[in-house]
Amino acid sequence: MGFLDSIFKKPLVGLDIGISGIKAVQLERNKKTVRLMAYNRVPLPWDAISAEGEIRDRGVVITALKRLFESRAFSSRSVALGTCGNSVITKKVAMPKMAPAELSNQLYWEAEQYLPFNPSEVNIDYVILGNSQSQGDMPMMDVLLVAAKKDYVKSVMGLVEEAGLRPEIVDSQSFALGNAFEFNYGFDPSTREGTTAIIDFGAGTTKISIVEGHLTTFTRELRQSGVVCTALIAERLGIPPDQAEKAKIFEPEHESVRPIVSEFVQGLVEEIARTLDFYSSQAADRTLDTIYVCGGASRTLNLVEALSSKISVQIDVLNPVQKIAGSGKGMKTQVLKELGCLGTVAIGLSLRAVGDRK
Ligand SMILES: Nc1ncnc2c1ncn2[C@@H]1O[C@H](COP(=O)(O)OP(=O)(O)OP(=O)(O)O)[C@@H](O)[C@H]1O
Ligand SMILES: [Mg+2]
Repeated sequence: MGFLDSIFKKPLVGLDIGISGIKAVQLERNKKTVRLMAYNRVPLPWDAISAEGEIRDRGVVITALKRLFESRAFSSRSVALGTCGNSVITKKVAMPKMAPAELSNQLYWEAEQYLPFNPSEVNIDYVILGNSQSQGDMPMMDVLLVAAKKDYVKSVMGLVEEAGLRPEIVDSQSFALGNAFEFNYGFDPSTREGTTAIIDFGAGTTKISIVEGHLTTFTRELRQSGVVCTALIAERLGIPPDQAEKAKIFEPEHESVRPIVSEFVQGLVEEIARTLDFYSSQAADRTLDTIYVCGGASRTLNLVEALSSKISVQIDVLNPVQKIAGSGKGMKTQVLKELGCLGTVAIGLSLRAVGDRK
């Protein structure tokens, strides 16, 4: 079933449980347009979820989920959930050409050599990317292996159910980024066949997804993130994290804060450049056309500027609501602005439909 054919069969709320706050988006297809019916965000206190995605305070997260859905604008309790932290990994592998049923079986047995987990601990999925170079007489294909840790997925689904919601789909945040991008930019001839990197600067991780044409072919999560920057400020200035967070957001130019933010930015930009170099080394036939940025930490002082001086690729801000016509009742400009920066993953998730692959 094609991605676009399967959208909006049943109202499904995209639910992004981010480290710093939970976001939910409900869209509705109305003839040819897609409308934003509901958006809400409830912040989470520092460390309710660790930067690695471990849920430290289930009670707090469940209460936040319940508050999120107090907004009457949501007409559904069925959700498409995004996984976070290091619970999902992807890897591109070359496999002999075979039928999908055989491939599922084969991947399960061979996954061990590609993954840092035992195959029995993970749900394995795959995407066939296309033909690869033959090995001798053997025709080969490139496959993107996707593995999600079962215990993590089970624990998050349980938590969401405890909050009175029905998890229908679990998707990786990186794929959700690709969905949001394709929906908003995929029909534009300039991005249709191109290679695009989407970088989501989150609180817990910086997520890099590379989309070739309409396929996400590479994903990587970096540990340098909003929380790491805040923790660095807190440590260096000897202040609590809450105060450091405020300093980072409201007074980044202050003489005591600026050098710390700048050191963080330098390290993050280096790491992004290394990741993109690694991607280029294994995808020699592709060149990166554009980088789109999103996520709250993309607003970090001089981050986008530093990235553009390091990498000679055009950088744009991803607008996840550019193709979303109109908005539900009472949707204010300020809300749309926040959604534009923080809502990309939730929008990508809400674009998924019941019955699609989990
Ligand atoms: N003006 C700003 N300057 C610097 N950082 C900012 C600014 N505004 C927000 N942030 C940072 O953005 C982060 C929150 O962004 P976002 O909501 O995208 O993250 P998240 O989805 O909760 O995290 P993750 O995706 O890693 O789970 C926080 O770390 C916050 O400090
Ligand atoms: Mg996020």
